Amino acid sequence: MGKEGASAALMPLLSAAIARELQASIQYMLQHSIGATVDSPISAKGTVAQIKFIGSHSSMWLPGSTLKKVAITEMRHAEAIAERVVRLGGVPPTTADDVSLGTTAREMLELDRALEQGAVDLYEQIIKVARAAEDTETAALFERILGDEKNHHRMFSNLLSRS
Ligand SMILES: [Fe+2]
Ligand SMILES: [Fe+2]
Repeated sequence: MGKEGASAALMPLLSAAIARELQASIQYMLQHSIGATVDSPISAKGTVAQIKFIGSHSSMWLPGSTLKKVAITEMRHAEAIAERVVRLGGVPPTTADDVSLGTTAREMLELDRALEQGAVDLYEQIIKVARAAEDTETAALFERILGDEKNHHRMFSNLLSRS
């Protein structure tokens, strides 16, 4: 089976999605690294739940969400979208969008919630464009990823509302 070819409107959106996913993966991983250090500077103005979520090293198979797990999920999204881009005959971008870490737990989670909102908006647009181009595979991929991003947005919102 040959390469499928993307609609002209779709490819720039898919590149933007990968740059966003790379940003999210780097941003969350580095925020976690800062939060996980002993005497982390992020604790000012942060609740216990927020600080635990950011700094926890809990492994993949343990229950409960942590920022480290979300970082890994975002990396998987980047990989899945990059595969799709290649399948459509494109070249995945290698550069992430600009990373913003923040300096307190609350600031980090606010930046992360805004990033998730941006992903939700972009992926709803991608699903529409993919459907219009009758690219059901891309639409299905982004429906699955959109579900994850909505969960992340809800998770960050809940953590922020408890302070
Ligand atoms: Fe993602
Ligand atoms: Fe996300």
